[in-house]
Amino acid sequence: MGKPAHGGNLVWASALAGCPPSAILDFSASISPLGPPQSVLTAIQSQLGNLRHYPDPNYSDLRNALSHFHNLPSEWILPGNGSAELLSLVGRELSQLEATVLLTPAFGDYYRALAAYNAKVLEFPLISADFKVMIANSVNSADFKVLSSEFLNKIMTQQCHFAQRGQPSEVWCSMHLPANFSESASGLSALILNNPHNPTGMLFSREAILSCLDKFALVVVDEAFMDFLPPTQDQSLIEVVQDYPNLIVLRSLTKFYSIPGLRLGYAVAHPDRLLRYIAWRDPWSVNTLASVAGVAALKDKQFQASTWEWLPKARQQLFEGLSQITGLQPFLGAANFLLVESKYSCVELQQRLLKNYQILIRDCQSFPQLGDRFFRVAVRTELDNMRLLTALKEIRDRS
Ligand SMILES: Cc1ncc(COP(=O)(O)O)c(C=O)c1O
Repeated sequence: MGKPAHGGNLVWASALAGCPPSAILDFSASISPLGPPQSVLTAIQSQLGNLRHYPDPNYSDLRNALSHFHNLPSEWILPGNGSAELLSLVGRELSQLEATVLLTPAFGDYYRALAAYNAKVLEFPLISADFKVMIANSVNSADFKVLSSEFLNKIMTQQCHFAQRGQPSEVWCSMHLPANFSESASGLSALILNNPHNPTGMLFSREAILSCLDKFALVVVDEAFMDFLPPTQDQSLIEVVQDYPNLIVLRSLTKFYSIPGLRLGYAVAHPDRLLRYIAWRDPWSVNTLASVAGVAALKDKQFQASTWEWLPKARQQLFEGLSQITGLQPFLGAANFLLVESKYSCVELQQRLLKNYQILIRDCQSFPQLGDRFFRVAVRTELDNMRLLTALKEIRDRS
């Protein structure tokens, strides 16, 4: 089996570790260790008898629950079989535009969704000298930074990489943006942003993204990890979506509620666009169990509150522990994972953690801008985090 492009591939990891998949402690997929909530499991159980029927093709209960949750009319919301399914529909639309701008390192599935429809990609590197300065300034702080529009504008006006249609990423060549890019080409182009950004954990302010909405024909904001921020801190654009017909927000329920195996996400966008997406896809792409799980999850205020209480403490514990290990430099992020720069080969580290400790971390080789000197770890319970930190210390002490 080839090297996985995503985290969480326990079959691949268990073959390397020589143990069953259930014995692996998985830090590679950024999934909450607190779930799935009991309310979700109970809702699934209650619907087993309904598997003999097709799901409601309009997903009215789930759409109403989402509508109530976001205080938005239900026609503006479309559930999907994970946000990955919705990303594919978005990819089809993006291919009709001149180009799509990606901030790199970018989530690998963006390339898949864009390549599937032969869309043209323009890459803007996020990890630059400025980024490092920003990270260096935030290292000693107990909190994460919220990035401003100046930061985003700076990225947008620097050199970008041009990916030729249908060419593999190795042959992407550098090119300078024309001086008038923001006025001319970008008006016909799209932007995909992920907020908080995976894999760096950087959080863009709502205003920073709003400033892009008049520069691009379409702006897609992937908020797969936004629910890990409590409502007082989140920078979601869902609340302004009705003001911007060129805005699409993608959300996932799989990470926060720990149901990646069930698959559930949703898109928030103009109803005309969503009707087009419905016409493009299979009729029942969200199954009955996922649909009721979503309704139960959204109502579970206690689970939501306990996640917002757990994360800042556990993330800080993991951040401090990693900072104390020679050769490792974690970046403070706003999500439930940390990107770590390493002086040593991360692929080798990954193998040693798997073979000797049955612990799986996410190497960053699938992000060409990061390569073998970065890895990403999910924030887990304090006990699990300690197990990872102890293993990393032992490996370093023995080297
Ligand atoms: C940034 C980002 N967006 C979207 C997804 C897909 O999530 P889902 O499980 O909802 O398909 C992932 C999964 O890892 C992700 O990291």
